[in-house]
Amino acid sequence: MSVATEAWSPNSWEQHPVAQNPNWPDLDALVAAQQALGAQPPLVFAGEARRLTDQLGDVAEGRAFLLQAGDCAESFDGGSADSIRDKLKVILQMAVALTYASGVPVLKVGRIAGQFAKPRSEQTETRNGVTLESFRGHIVNDEPFTESDRRPNPDRLLTAYHQSVATLNLLRAFTKGGFADLSRVHAWNQEFVAHSAEGVRYSQIADEIERALRFMRACGIDLAREGSLHSVDFYTSHEALVLPYEQALTRQDSLSGDWYDCSAHMLWIGDRTRQLDGAHVEFLRGVGNPIGLKVGPSMTPSELLALCERLNPNNVAGRLTLISRLGRSTIGQQLPALIESVRDAGHRVLWACDPMHGNTFTASGGQKTRRFDDILDEVRQFFSIHRELGSWPGGLHVELTGDNVTECLGGASDLSESDLELNYTSMCDPRLNASQSLDLAFRVSEFLQS
Ligand code: PEP
Ligand code: CO
Repeated sequence: MSVATEAWSPNSWEQHPVAQNPNWPDLDALVAAQQALGAQPPLVFAGEARRLTDQLGDVAEGRAFLLQAGDCAESFDGGSADSIRDKLKVILQMAVALTYASGVPVLKVGRIAGQFAKPRSEQTETRNGVTLESFRGHIVNDEPFTESDRRPNPDRLLTAYHQSVATLNLLRAFTKGGFADLSRVHAWNQEFVAHSAEGVRYSQIADEIERALRFMRACGIDLAREGSLHSVDFYTSHEALVLPYEQALTRQDSLSGDWYDCSAHMLWIGDRTRQLDGAHVEFLRGVGNPIGLKVGPSMTPSELLALCERLNPNNVAGRLTLISRLGRSTIGQQLPALIESVRDAGHRVLWACDPMHGNTFTASGGQKTRRFDDILDEVRQFFSIHRELGSWPGGLHVELTGDNVTECLGGASDLSESDLELNYTSMCDPRLNASQSLDLAFRVSEFLQS
């Protein structure tokens, strides 16, 4: 019997090799944390995850576009209302820019309310002859290089849950309680963005949207009754990396009898944990949520086909999002064969482009960074390759923040290497700041129109 037809259960992943597994020093404490999580309410409902799958199905079929965006790694210290609001503002602004230009509905999915775990290339880190566990994100351990900070601590699973609850609660309030009302489209333009070229361009669109709303009102349309003008569907997602956490939040849906990972609406498998017979693929094949799969430069067409079969055996459109992150110098050689083999095998998938993770390098000052132009170039190639093959370039997956950080180079404000130290606050990878994000959205909307 093949692995894929063997019985799945929320803990069947334990029978498979677990890549990126922290060295939990106290397994009893881990089990206790899982039991405590198991007694907590779910963060999201199965019905919401199913609705997202349906909407992603529209993207897979070329009728909508996916914008998936947020932090590389959320921090236990970074969950303030202002920073959540500002991240949401940028994502809403990007969605307005994309929707307005393309006329296509844009699905909004945050890397937020649970994006606390990071895969690392090394299990341990050595400094001055001292070797400690690598920093794996706040759900596992802490950054300072001390034995106690770096020791994986299962209590953090509960803190991650509670912070996700608080973040999601605020997101639901913002998106359903008036803040995301289209009549407030101007208010999403933050002060420091408003004066930039892309901020001005955004204001012009906002003016036009306001004019259109006034026109509809004058025609006698009762805008108050149009729910979609007053609230926004905003979904959450994160990399399903720490499986004891994901398992503890996996619940059986009383309506369908299916299992859902209720830690977020959408979960994805990282490029380092996508082994066909590994624990992460085993876990995610059994949950009903829509899932993402990162596709990095070492992915071969035959591996990808096997993963599509394992993760989406019923070939449901919207179930599986393939997120290519090949790098600007590799995408041209690799993406066409991957798209063609998936298409020729009849898999109904959605392709999105993560132009961040294949374009990272170390600046002369030692900071990890990315060039705006490299990011843009990978997206441009992503669009043209899909167009050439008659395939729909369905989405964009980016790391960003609403803050005025200096982590990525270039963009409209033309940040240089010497600017990086001005406001570099990322705990992990370099993120686009608010104006770079908006700039990217305008460029992508031009690709969408062409
Ligand atoms: C990420 O999305 O933060 C990440 C680590 O990506 P990847 O798995 O593609 O390297
Ligand atoms: Co990252």
